[in-house]
Amino acid sequence: MLDVRGLRKVYEASGRHVEAVRDLTFTVGAGELVCLVGPSGCGKTTLLKCVGGLLAPTAGEVLLRGRRVTGPPPGLAFVFQEYGRSLFPWMRVGENVELPLRQKGLPRSRRRELVAGALRSVGLSDASGAYPWQLSGGMQQRVAIARALAYEPDVLLMDEPFAAVDAQTRADLEDLVRGLWRQRGITILFVTHDIDEAVYLGERVVVLSASPTVVREELKVDLPDPRDQLTTRVEPRFAELRTRVYRQIQAAKRSAEPGPRGAVEKDTDAPADQAPSAT
Ligand SMILES: Nc1ncnc2c1ncn2[C@@H]1O[C@H](COP(=O)(O)OP(=O)(O)O)[C@@H](O)[C@H]1O
Ligand SMILES: [Mg+2]
Repeated sequence: MLDVRGLRKVYEASGRHVEAVRDLTFTVGAGELVCLVGPSGCGKTTLLKCVGGLLAPTAGEVLLRGRRVTGPPPGLAFVFQEYGRSLFPWMRVGENVELPLRQKGLPRSRRRELVAGALRSVGLSDASGAYPWQLSGGMQQRVAIARALAYEPDVLLMDEPFAAVDAQTRADLEDLVRGLWRQRGITILFVTHDIDEAVYLGERVVVLSASPTVVREELKVDLPDPRDQLTTRVEPRFAELRTRVYRQIQAAKRSAEPGPRGAVEKDTDAPADQAPSAT
């Protein structure tokens, strides 16, 4: 579904030269849920914007269904980190969710159906008439997710969508994303700096190096489905996977020059009691 090939992005502004992404190559299959994890500032947002056609790569390319992405492609939806700024405060929740559907040119009755269905999926049926600022942060982020869902995307890009919500809400939203992924068969690329979140959510985790960024490792998350916040997180396999990702990120942060792709450090049986965040 998605093919990122040799992607490089250099920002050039007022004499400053920032090589945010050096050389990224990975693919995401149709209906896959892939998590990208890497330290803050490693270029995750930059990468996602290139994938979503919001930024032009300096070199390399992004292919969606084999076609080169040169602008926001149809069938692709984006959930940004800053939900506060991604909803229009002067529009009610229902209108926010409906907006992209108007732009899609759908008839009114279909728009209503999709808006109601999406708000129901995120448990906000009764909030349609409220303004975003009347809702909690977690609810606002659910509105942003509903807006993306109503659009009926084939591909959903999510940029640290739960970074600013409390732990309990975050756990609920993680389960919501996995549930929607299973029900709707959407292809999801989920970016996070949180190692536990990446392992809990993903069917596969792509570990990024520190900037200038390359892929350090890709690992399959062979945890059973459906996952559960209580039981999955205490499984020995969960601890093994998070330890492995944690080590990769630590190594990435130590070395400006990351190891070649696939050159993984030997996985030992050390306990997985390290901090869960890549930052
Ligand atoms: N518009 C921009 N102009 C110049 N540099 C930028 C711009 N956006 C991001 N950067 C730089 O690119 C690097 C990667 O940023 P970003 O993609 O936001 O990382 P992440 O999302 O992983 O935290 C950082 O060093 C950041 O300062
Ligand atoms: Mg970011």
